[in-house]
Amino acid sequence: MEALSAAGEPAIATHALTKRYRGGQLAVDRLDLVVPRGSVFGFLGPNGSGKTTTIRMLMGLIEPTSGTARVLGEEMPRAGRRVLPRVGALIEGPALYGFLTGRDNLLRFDAADPTADPRTRRARVDAALDRVGLVAAAGKKARAYSLGMKQRLGLAAALLQPRELLVLDEPTNGLDPQGMREIRTLVRGLASEGTTVFLSSHLLDEIEQVCTHAAVMAQGRLLTQGTVAELASSARGRLAVTTPDTAEAVRVLKEHGVNDLTVDDDRVTGELPAAVPELAELNAALVRAGVRVRSFGTARASLEDAFVALTGEGFDVAG
Ligand SMILES: Nc1ncnc2c1ncn2[C@@H]1O[C@H](COP(=O)(O)OP(=O)(O)OP(=O)(O)O)[C@@H](O)[C@H]1O
Ligand SMILES: [Mg+2]
Repeated sequence: MEALSAAGEPAIATHALTKRYRGGQLAVDRLDLVVPRGSVFGFLGPNGSGKTTTIRMLMGLIEPTSGTARVLGEEMPRAGRRVLPRVGALIEGPALYGFLTGRDNLLRFDAADPTADPRTRRARVDAALDRVGLVAAAGKKARAYSLGMKQRLGLAAALLQPRELLVLDEPTNGLDPQGMREIRTLVRGLASEGTTVFLSSHLLDEIEQVCTHAAVMAQGRLLTQGTVAELASSARGRLAVTTPDTAEAVRVLKEHGVNDLTVDDDRVTGELPAAVPELAELNAALVRAGVRVRSFGTARASLEDAFVALTGEGFDVAG
């Protein structure tokens, strides 16, 4: 069955997917995205870079202006009725009934699913509440929920049924550090059960901790996609020198083209130039200038380094 419908097809594949909103805003520009089955895929980008717009197109909530989107091997939005029951989604603030309790909201969501057996409804809802850590707050009215509690409830709704694909738009938005850790554990658990997870986020270290793959968007365009390890290694790590002679070290390093130098105590760090000088040569130059080098090396590049190198800007700059 599975093999028939999707032999080797990625969980998500878009081709030249484009959305221009009425009013002219080009929100997504010829996007080619490939989300492998079984991956935990991080969808990164600054505010306004087109993440939510892409997710809305994938879920058939808005029509693309042009291009195609395939989800679980089928064309969206055309095959939505077949595809969407296999997908759990959390998109920008779930629609909740404020006058109902968290549990009653979930019972309603479950009742709206024609494939859900009413006899096992309570058990499903309780299991979902448990998974997102809402058991204690299940009897509270949703309008009295905090942002993080609402987010958890939306996630619980997406988890009522086992899904092949989960699409989560900023799932950790509004969560406290403990909540974020719980979501991370939850996502890892789902992935180990074989669910593909596609999630957007602003938090690069979160993505780095939980995702196997990532894509980076800026101003509606895809800048890069690949495994997290590939992306991180595409950026060079920062040079770090430990020395009591920081001022002199800064001078010498600057002379050799090292940029963005910062001094923190006895530690000087900087960005290596595009034409990397021989590191041993750089070290020798420091020593020749009388700098007492206590340690010298490059720190492993993080996804954040890669992101900054790609977008050339801080993370929260509007696109
Ligand atoms: N309904 C709409 N009508 C017109 N323009 C829109 C609409 N929704 C989004 N946009 C514009 O499309 C662009 C992409 O927005 P989108 O919400 O997809 O970004 P995002 O990457 O999800 O941002 P964020 O990180 O802030 O959630 C922005 O310039 C935004 O102003
Ligand atoms: Mg968004």
